[in-house]
Amino acid sequence: MPEKIRFGIIGCGLMGREFASAAARWCHLNADIPEPEIIGICDTNPGAKEWFLKHFDSIRYDETDYHELLAKKDIDAVYCAVPHSLHSRFYCDIIRAGKHLLGEKPFGIDQKANAEIMAAIREHPEVVVRCSSEFPYYPACQELIRWIQSGKLGKIIEVRSSFCHSSDMDLNKPINWKRMVEINGEYGCMGDLGIHTEHVPFRMGWIPKNVSATLSKIVKERPDGKGGIAECLTWDNATLSCMVDDKDGGQFPMFLVTKRLAPGATDDWSLEVDGIKASVRFSSKDPNGFWYTDSWEKEQAWCRLGIGYKPMIPTITGSIFEFGFTDAILQMWAAFICEIRQIEIPFGLMRPEETELSHKLQTAALQSYYEKRVVEIK
Ligand SMILES: NC(=O)c1ccc[n+]([C@@H]2O[C@H](COP(=O)([O-])OP(=O)(O)OC[C@H]3O[C@@H](n4cnc5c(N)ncnc54)[C@H](O)[C@@H]3O)[C@@H](O)[C@H]2O)c1
Repeated sequence: MPEKIRFGIIGCGLMGREFASAAARWCHLNADIPEPEIIGICDTNPGAKEWFLKHFDSIRYDETDYHELLAKKDIDAVYCAVPHSLHSRFYCDIIRAGKHLLGEKPFGIDQKANAEIMAAIREHPEVVVRCSSEFPYYPACQELIRWIQSGKLGKIIEVRSSFCHSSDMDLNKPINWKRMVEINGEYGCMGDLGIHTEHVPFRMGWIPKNVSATLSKIVKERPDGKGGIAECLTWDNATLSCMVDDKDGGQFPMFLVTKRLAPGATDDWSLEVDGIKASVRFSSKDPNGFWYTDSWEKEQAWCRLGIGYKPMIPTITGSIFEFGFTDAILQMWAAFICEIRQIEIPFGLMRPEETELSHKLQTAALQSYYEKRVVEIK
């Protein structure tokens, strides 16, 4: 039997369930990676915990106060998926309790909260801390990353990374915490979706030098779910135009797009990198497709390779099949466990210092919008 790493989950909502489901099919992996065992759960809402208690007989601790969970000596690591206003306090306490942490984005509601988390991490170098980001683990995106790293693209012309949703197009959708500034944060859609657009670019070393932000607040009120209307003050859509230094002393533009009002988009994550010698793109709308250009003398053809089920960490699924969101979640979790156990992998999760850069960028983006100017990122 594989070695086990005993986990507590704080926040048993949408993402807490995704982790638990991934842990429940660890046998899907065809690799010798310790297995996460969920032994504790914590949520203030008892209803949120019912599904866990029904499906996981490994649960020994069922708590409403996360301090109780952190006091358990047999919990090695924690997955924390709670609203953004709680990130700093919860993450700092988890790290100071000596538990490894997979935290959720945006890793602090704002730059001050992120700095508090970074301070706790510096105090505890023995604890492995990462931020969740699953989309780079699609096999076609991994192929895209390999092309970038190989230098096949030549001089980079432009990078476009985006993450778009459309569920807010339904004006009757009641407001939830993700649309409330005091809980989701001043960054709005950028805080909620931005880290997904930044993980690959930052890891490729594309560090924004400056930003000019276009932010839109379009739907300003929503049903409050109790028969009334509530103000909805978060940013709906954002386009960040940045300049990035290249290796030859030049610069290229990078566009990071996050939208809650993108007609027809359902969790659409995409990345395109255009280069002088070749260009590549991947979109979760076409999960099996890796797109690249082939040069025909003066012209370029976009070609689609059906990549098949060839994930970074091997699984039992045949390569003739297709890959999906829950597979990406499983790969991300396997990658996190590898990072805890120092098992080498080609592409690791978002690191705390990358979340720090994300906060610098998004804080500068707000400043850019309010002051109507390009803001340097230091
Ligand atoms: N990686 C991704 O693709 C992805 C997708 C969605 C959300 N997220 C992130 O995950 C986090 C959680 O989002 P979600 O969609 O799961 O939210 P959710 O609202 O579905 O779940 C949050 C849970 O936290 C619980 N909670 C609130 N206060 C608590 C407290 N004091 N103690 C313990 N539990 C408490 C709530 O009762 C709820 O069950 C956020 O940071 C969000 O940005 C990530």
